[in-house]
Amino acid sequence: MKKLMEQMALELSGAFEKAGYDPSYGKVTVSSRPDLCEFQCNGAMAGAKKYKKAPFMIAEDVAALLKDTRLFSAVEVVKPGFINLKVKEEFLAEYLEEMDRDEKLSVSAAEQPKTIIIDYGGPNVAKPLHVGHLRSAIIGESLKRISRYMGHHVIGDVHLGDWGLQMGLIITELKYRKPDLVYFDEAYEGAYPEEAPFTISELEEIYPCASAKSKTDEAYKNEALEATHMLQQGRRGYMALWNHIMTVSVADLKKNYEKLNVFFDLWKKESDAQPYIPDMVEKMKRDGFAYEDQGALVVDVKEEKDAKEIPPCMLLKSDGASLYTTTDLATIVDRMKLYQPDAIWYLADKRQELHFTQVFRCARKTGLVKEDTELFFLGFGTMNGKDGKPFKTRDGGVMRLENLIGEINEEMYRKIVENRSVRDTDAGETARQVGLSAIKYGDLSNQATKDYVFDVDRFTSFEGNTGPYILYTIVRIKSILRRYKEEGGVLDTGRFLPAQSGVEKNLMLQLTGFGDTVQSAFEEKAPHRICAYIYEVSNAFNSFYHDTKILTEEDPERKQSFVRILGLTQRVLETSIDLLGFSAPDRM
Ligand code: ARG
Repeated sequence: MKKLMEQMALELSGAFEKAGYDPSYGKVTVSSRPDLCEFQCNGAMAGAKKYKKAPFMIAEDVAALLKDTRLFSAVEVVKPGFINLKVKEEFLAEYLEEMDRDEKLSVSAAEQPKTIIIDYGGPNVAKPLHVGHLRSAIIGESLKRISRYMGHHVIGDVHLGDWGLQMGLIITELKYRKPDLVYFDEAYEGAYPEEAPFTISELEEIYPCASAKSKTDEAYKNEALEATHMLQQGRRGYMALWNHIMTVSVADLKKNYEKLNVFFDLWKKESDAQPYIPDMVEKMKRDGFAYEDQGALVVDVKEEKDAKEIPPCMLLKSDGASLYTTTDLATIVDRMKLYQPDAIWYLADKRQELHFTQVFRCARKTGLVKEDTELFFLGFGTMNGKDGKPFKTRDGGVMRLENLIGEINEEMYRKIVENRSVRDTDAGETARQVGLSAIKYGDLSNQATKDYVFDVDRFTSFEGNTGPYILYTIVRIKSILRRYKEEGGVLDTGRFLPAQSGVEKNLMLQLTGFGDTVQSAFEEKAPHRICAYIYEVSNAFNSFYHDTKILTEEDPERKQSFVRILGLTQRVLETSIDLLGFSAPDRM
């Protein structure tokens, strides 16, 4: 179906053309003066120069042709040359009828679906998930859902950090604690035990302990570096330990992501890219891109237009070891080979900007990707505490994700139990659902690139621009519709009638914005667009609710029309929150 904005633009362009002007001036936007009109067209102003004519006159010519349209109840020209528009109530009702019948609620799927890989989450194996990883998971999951809704083929990859020093540190510490383990016996040739020699809690305690030691003890650090190197060389016992670490960590990570309603299609890891490195590096040398500089192998990636110096991209250190950059380049090789993506999007802290600039430039220059393959880095800002500094625990440590979620859920539970309408048995589950909305909406309602303050009190509030407020609105609709059914009403009968009141029309108009919102959220990779939109829809609904007697309406057709509006509002809101990655309970 054609979206409302498109239909209006078509009508306006037609009028411009008929009046002898270029139809491209017929663009329509939401009104910047909602007190005067609902939509507006500024095309006459833009055309004034070309036609050497007062914008007012052009606007008058156009408006004269829009007198008896199906779409507009008012077409008004105001100085210096705006065309102010109001939509006809009858047309609006017909439009919503069509939108409600549309499975995609007016969003038109991409004509040429793209294959998009989204690299998000990015946790490091054996290190606990901390709040820094939260944003990547939340924003990435939402972008994945939005892109899919737009009809694209989207592959979400968690891209585990499994290949760095943390593995050597864990192996070294284990060796100190349990030197008799068979994994450390180089002469051993038999099979290794199936059971890991540690649990996830032990693993989580081992890593910080080893990491702390390595910071003060040079010899210990060298041992860990050596162990990392041996692992990367494929030493049997270490490989077996690495496998155990992976199995134990991945099971724990999956559990945690599931709690966040985050699901990856691929659980690939940095180590999966390692086999591609030798050939990739060889080719870069052969093609004359990679050269030796003070023992290291590098590729120049600076460009003339650079305002600040972009250092060369390093492929191999002087000892032959590969780096984070090398892994990311080899991962591109892997992805191009297996999935031929049209785009790869990366989500990580914006402090990794330089890294991705180097990787992308090097990948393009050396031909790892096609010319039209999009490589995009979405660098997000820091999640701060109320003190404006990166979010910490009360005692100043790095907040673990699990604890953060736990804290929010407790707060939600307290608020929900105060609200006696929920039976105690559901309260725990409801608290989790509402808590997740608080966390995710609190994050996603900000522009991703900006820092934001994680404010538990504000995020968990049922009022204002929060997740719980949106859920509260949905729950309110569900409860009215439930009562309607209990009273014998049947959903999806009757039709949308032309609005009778301002609040009703405003809600109906808001609902028409869904398609454009999802489209711009996709194009701009900006879930916050959806948040801003559903906040408006919720406000419009709540004003309508306060001003309108819905279930006590006596005219049965009018009542059915109200019920249709409620049903569509619920669908728009629930589809939107699904795109953000959370859901609403039945009661709260
Ligand atoms: N593991 C990395 C970190 O914790 C993030 C990975 C981001 N993705 C990538 N392809 N480099 O910082």
